[in-house]
Amino acid sequence: MAKRVCPFWVGYLLISPLRTLFQNPDKLLKPHITSGMKVLDIGSGMGFFSLPIARMVGAEGKVICVDVQEKMLKSLEKRARKAGLSDRVETRICHQNSLGLNDLNEEIDFALAFAVVHEVPNVTQFLDELFNTLKPTGKLLLAEPKGHVSEKDFNRTISVAQQNRFKIIDNPSIPRNRTMLLKKEVSLKN
Ligand SMILES: C[S@@+](CC[C@H](N)C(=O)[O-])C[C@H]1O[C@@H](n2cnc3c(N)ncnc32)[C@H](O)[C@@H]1O
Repeated sequence: MAKRVCPFWVGYLLISPLRTLFQNPDKLLKPHITSGMKVLDIGSGMGFFSLPIARMVGAEGKVICVDVQEKMLKSLEKRARKAGLSDRVETRICHQNSLGLNDLNEEIDFALAFAVVHEVPNVTQFLDELFNTLKPTGKLLLAEPKGHVSEKDFNRTISVAQQNRFKIIDNPSIPRNRTMLLKKEVSLKN
């Protein structure tokens, strides 16, 4: 069955400043993101996390925001311009079945996939593509809303991630969400 993509108008609700009261991007992401990093925000929507990430990476860093909906990205670009952050925010439209990030092989320090995996039709391919973009030291934070994703379904996503060579390092507490912090399981064989 086709997965339902978040309607465009919901994008406006997701950037509400009130959301910061229970999901503060600085508190959630500052432990993982430092100045100069190259970060992916997958399923960025209108950029509730992307703009704070752009501030965290600073002028030397970059946040690459990927979404299937052009209208979400257009709104994000407008918000980035208004905030004076366009120089470090890149937007990329993708397909439901492919992120199209082959050019970023092992370039990404940190990837965020917040409230997007349950909308993705092929989770194995999605995680495989993300895995390839990460540096050997790279990390991926997955968060899925409890209201949309059962514990069983979330555990299934984590199993797929482990089959895709991700290793669990933590499950940070984010109100109303199921979360997992993952890293690349780098083989020591050579
Ligand atoms: C619920 S919204 C979350 C937006 C943002 N991450 C946040 O937390 O505010 C999900 C977003 O994922 C995007 N999306 C859905 N399927 C996708 C896919 N296969 N690849 C990339 N983005 C996708 C939707 O267009 C939407 O903007």
